[in-house]
Formats: sequence, C-alpha cells, structure tokens
Amino acid sequence: MMDDRTLELSGDALRSLIEAAARRIVAHVGSLAEQPSADTEGGAALARSLVEPIPEAGRPADELLELLFDRVVPKSFNTAGPGYLAYIPGGGLPQSAVADLVADAVNRYVGVFAAAPGLAQIEANVVRWFADLAGLPPGARGILTSGGSLATFSALVAARRDRLPDNFLSGTLYASDQTHHAVQKAALLAGFPPDNVREIPSDASYRIRVDALADTIAADRAARRTPFLVVGNAGTTNTGAVDDLGSLADLCAKERLWFHVDAAYGGFFLLTEQGRLRMAGIERSDSIVLDPHKGLFLPYGTGALLVRDGEALKRAHALSADYMPSMQEDPDLVDFNLLSPELSRDFRGLRVWLPLKMHGIGPFRANLEEKLALARHAADALREIPGIEILAEPQLSILAFRLTRPGLDGPALDRINQSLLERINGRKRVYLTGTLLSGRFAIRLCVLSFRTHRDRIDAGIEDIRAAIAEA
Ligand SMILES: Cc1ncc(COP(=O)(O)O)c(C=O)c1O
Repeated sequence: MMDDRTLELSGDALRSLIEAAARRIVAHVGSLAEQPSADTEGGAALARSLVEPIPEAGRPADELLELLFDRVVPKSFNTAGPGYLAYIPGGGLPQSAVADLVADAVNRYVGVFAAAPGLAQIEANVVRWFADLAGLPPGARGILTSGGSLATFSALVAARRDRLPDNFLSGTLYASDQTHHAVQKAALLAGFPPDNVREIPSDASYRIRVDALADTIAADRAARRTPFLVVGNAGTTNTGAVDDLGSLADLCAKERLWFHVDAAYGGFFLLTEQGRLRMAGIERSDSIVLDPHKGLFLPYGTGALLVRDGEALKRAHALSADYMPSMQEDPDLVDFNLLSPELSRDFRGLRVWLPLKMHGIGPFRANLEEKLALARHAADALREIPGIEILAEPQLSILAFRLTRPGLDGPALDRINQSLLERINGRKRVYLTGTLLSGRFAIRLCVLSFRTHRDRIDAGIEDIRAAIAEA
C-alpha cells in the first residue's frame, strides 16, 4: 500500500492557495460598489453549463478561482453591495470570512466543551453578549444556528417540550399576519398541524392587534384547545413593524403562555436608543431569535436563539450516548451539543467574535443608527415625489411605498408598480423588492448593509424619480 499525501498541502502550497484566493477576494470586495446591484441574465444557462460528473482529475486552483470570480459569482444579486436594499440585506463583513478561514483551518470541535474549552467559551461569550443586549437574566442560554429559521425551530421545540405534554396536538400558537413564514415552517417541523398556528390580524401600522389576540386565545380555550405560545415581532420582514412587546408580555404573563420574539431582522437595533424604545418588553420574553447575518452585517450562515430559562432549552435538546465524551458539570460552562439539534458543526462563534473584538461594539451601533436615519431620509425624499404614497413609514430601517394614479386602483395600479419596480432595478444601482400590504402591491426598501450610505440612497431616489418619469 502506498501512502497518498496528495491532499496534504505543503506550507508553501497552502500559502500560495490562500494568497491566490486573497488576491481575488480583495479585488472583488474592492469593486462591490461598482458592480451592478443585480445581474442574473443568462444565469440559468450558466448553471446548466456547470453541470458535470465528479471529476476524476484535478485542475489548477487558479483556473478554479478564475471560473468562480469571473463567471459564476458575477451572475447574482449583489447581496454584499451598497445598493442591495431588497428583502433583508446581509452585508458580509470580510473580517468574518477570515474568522471562518481560521476556524476551518484549525478545525476544532466546539460542540463538546471538553474538546476545545477556550473556543467553546469564545462562542459562549458571544451568546452571553446577545443575552445581555436583550436584557435576559443570567440563567438564559442560547445557541448560534445557521440562521433565523433554525433558531425559530429550536425555540418552538423548547417551548413545546416545556409547556405541552408528549401528546401536544391541541397546542396552539399565535402570530400576526405579518409574521415571517419561518414561524409557520418551524411549527410544521415541530409537529404542529397548520391549523394550530393562529394568524392574528395586524393594525394600520402592521402591528399585531392585541385585542384580537386575546379574543382568539379565549375562543380557543373555550374550544378545548391549549394555547401555549405567542410570537411577537421585533421588526417584520414586510415593513419592519415592531409589535407592542410590553402588552404582549403582559398578556402572556396573564395567560401563562410562552412569549417568543422574532427579532431576526430588528434585534440588533437594540444597540440604538430608538431600537431600545421600540422594542421595550423584549426583556420579558421567554425566547428570542436574532440574526447576526442581518443586523450585525455578518456573512450568511449565522442566526441565534436565546432562551430565558436555559434549562428549558437543555431539556429539549440534551441526550447522551455511550460513545460520547463526558460533559462538564459546571453550570457556568457550556456543552453546546446539549442545547442544540446539532452535534458536529462549524465553529461559528468565531465569525461573530472576531469583528466584535477587532472593532468593539461602537461602529456596529453607529452603523445601525446610520441605517435608521437613512430609512427616515429615504421616506422624506420619497414623500417629495408627486404621486408617491408611503404605505409603511419606517419603524426601523424598512419602508414601503407605491406610485398612485388618479382613478386607478386594484390590479391595474399593482401592475404599474410592478413595472416601476422593474424599471428601478433595471438601472442597476439599487435593488428593491415588492410585497403585498393589505392586498396592495408595495415596493419595499430595506437599509441594513454596513456598505450602504447616503450617496447610494440618494442614487436610488434619483433612479426612482427617473423610472417614474420614463413610465
Ligand atoms: C423577521 C424574520 N424572521 C425570520 C427570518 C428567517 O431567517 P433566516 O433567513 O436567517 O432563516 C427572516 C429572514 O429574512 C426574517 O426577516
């Protein structure tokens, strides 16, 4: 038998691979602002041209990097660019990419405390910082997940195990009609039939109607259902609406329900004064979902779940096995596999820790304050444009608007706005997306990238004006 050492790169080969990637990355990141805000024409043909069987022979890394950076990456939404005002922008701090490189290269195991105590502690620190930010008590525990959807799944499973018997099919949960579908999906995955998720109407500001919620809970109790959980929104995807979390906390306390807050988009605005005021009451919740890959500008792949009663999170996820190493006993130290559905996984704590330690929290707060101000500025500028109606004023950094035409409404007006959206995006400086608000097609604008500043918002407003003039 021959030793095969092909996969073991020499120090020089590894360095030159990292340097080749670094050259490409630095050029790419440096040109993000000049790249079109989206360019997917011919994307499906490109995708088909990439289909191939598993390669028998290797190719030079330079050739592969060239394929990626010159042909594949450009055919996409420029989600990391300053003009990406669509859906919920991420950002993509390259500091986190470097952290990922380090984490993957050292490839330590953080799911079990004993396997890498210092690294597990670094991740535990990150979770503690988030819990402190949200105002949760010392007994709170949490996990970093791949995103908000999986964090929501674990929240619902923890609540289900804490509040319902093994036969939980009468368990009913409540969320407004503006709630992200991650909640519905998590409820389905957690075993609840679709009808067990009650949709509560929202008010004119897209906030849950607490009176309607109370009525629905009462009706469900009368029908021998078992209400067990209420979702409050701390920044909806549609409009950034923040529910009255204080009133929801009161109602949940009175009705003895688990109070879950979806702060995937809005949560990190807790770093700002405006955000703290809007989200007052979040500190009374039983669980919170936050997405660092949204409000902390990280690359995609980092969500977070915080649970007030850390033991409830543990009871829902902890299992042991003969082949596992022993878990530590000290309550201050964390074995993440006991709190999460995952066992082996990446060391995602480092991608949060490195930028926060490098810069401190100040620049994150300043960036979030800037995004709030930019959304207000965009709303003011849009209001000046004849025919524009603001359908949702910014509560955080999202707003929604449409163009009106005298005598026009319904599908005809929706079509005008859909084509306006295409024209705006066709100018390729900003990328916006649409949604339905009270049945009306609305154009959304969400400012959340650390790369988006006043110049790009003004360019976007110019493009909106120009697109209206063309139409
Ligand atoms: C309010 C809200 N909740 C949950 C999610 C789902 O998060 P993720 O895409 O990270 O799974 C999103 C995503 O945009 C969101 O905006």
